[in-house]
Amino acid sequence: MTTIRLPGAADIHVHLREPGETHKEDFASGTAAALAGGVVTVLAMPNTRPPLTDPTAFREAVQRARAGARCEVGLFVGGTPENPEVAAALAPQAAGLKLYLDATYGPLRLESLAAVLGHFKAWPGHRPIAVHAEGRAVAMVLGLAALFRQPIHFCHVSRREEILLIRRAKERGLPVTCEVTPHHLFLTEADWPRLGPFGLMRPPLATRADQEALWANLPVIDAVATDHAPHTIEEKQSPHPPPGVPGLETMLPLMLTAVVEGRLSLEEVVRLVATGPRRIFGLLEPPETWVEIEWGGPWTISREGLFTKCGWTPFEGMVVRARVRRTVLEGRVAFEDGEVRALPGSGRVLFADPLRQPGASLQRQRCRCGNDSQGGERW
Ligand code: NCD
Ligand code: ZN
Ligand code: ZN
Ligand code: ZN
Repeated sequence: MTTIRLPGAADIHVHLREPGETHKEDFASGTAAALAGGVVTVLAMPNTRPPLTDPTAFREAVQRARAGARCEVGLFVGGTPENPEVAAALAPQAAGLKLYLDATYGPLRLESLAAVLGHFKAWPGHRPIAVHAEGRAVAMVLGLAALFRQPIHFCHVSRREEILLIRRAKERGLPVTCEVTPHHLFLTEADWPRLGPFGLMRPPLATRADQEALWANLPVIDAVATDHAPHTIEEKQSPHPPPGVPGLETMLPLMLTAVVEGRLSLEEVVRLVATGPRRIFGLLEPPETWVEIEWGGPWTISREGLFTKCGWTPFEGMVVRARVRRTVLEGRVAFEDGEVRALPGSGRVLFADPLRQPGASLQRQRCRCGNDSQGGERW
């Protein structure tokens, strides 16, 4: 059996559904899925019920994460038309600000330019704003990134024009980063007939040409992030299936199988799932932490043994050549041979709880630039 050690992965885009929709997922089940997938750090999105858009809801979510999480969790604060100042005040405890410029699951869509501008004015300029922006909303946000010199992170980029625009923005020196999901790298709209509602998510699966443009522009991509968005089988089979697919347990096997197939290098995978995403949000690598990967198989992805509460995967039936054998987090075996060992509450809430670093005492995770004061001179 051939095994290798990789750094623990960081998934900067997950939906853990707590509070409010814990029949789909919760902190304990979502972080169990993370550890089973070799992911030791997750950043959770604010489209919960209630959404994380005010201090009360945010504090409540931090407490629930403390009680349930089995790995590192950071929380995004969500932007509404009314909360620019309130969201900015939460910046030191949040992984970043999330703005939804296009319709998706949940009520957090910003309709007006004024609402978006309100956040660009108020949010501290040294912390990233993550955007759900599709199509021409990407161009709009790039304009704002240039005008405000505000670091922008583009979530789940899926189309050729979008990645080419972001490439151009990076060449021009704009402070932008982007992530791509495994489902947009490994599935296309040609999979719709086979997957039915289990292939529906936002942004939707794209064309073969879009997919090829993502693979052809890997150097432009800063991270692979799952957009782990669990919905139950019953919900997916209902007349109005909600958009979203789970992904935490399948990202590493799929990416590493692409290495076996010669589509990218192992170093590139480590950049995309670990060092790259950590750099965007200033996430320190936890000490004494690694993932043991077993090469071999072939193994067929199946819903059996998944830790996500939703109990299905759009990648079912795909054949992989790598799997996670063991995940070690801060010196402790957190997952091994199909069993999650880390207990709920053994995780840590990033930016809110103290962090253990080698050779240092407990300290709070801070923005890497060291500047946690709020901006304001940009407008
Ligand atoms: C996400 C969800 O279910 O929360 N759904 C999705 O299709 N991606 C929301 C989102 O990421 O836009
Ligand atoms: Zn989204
Ligand atoms: Zn999402
Ligand atoms: Zn900073």
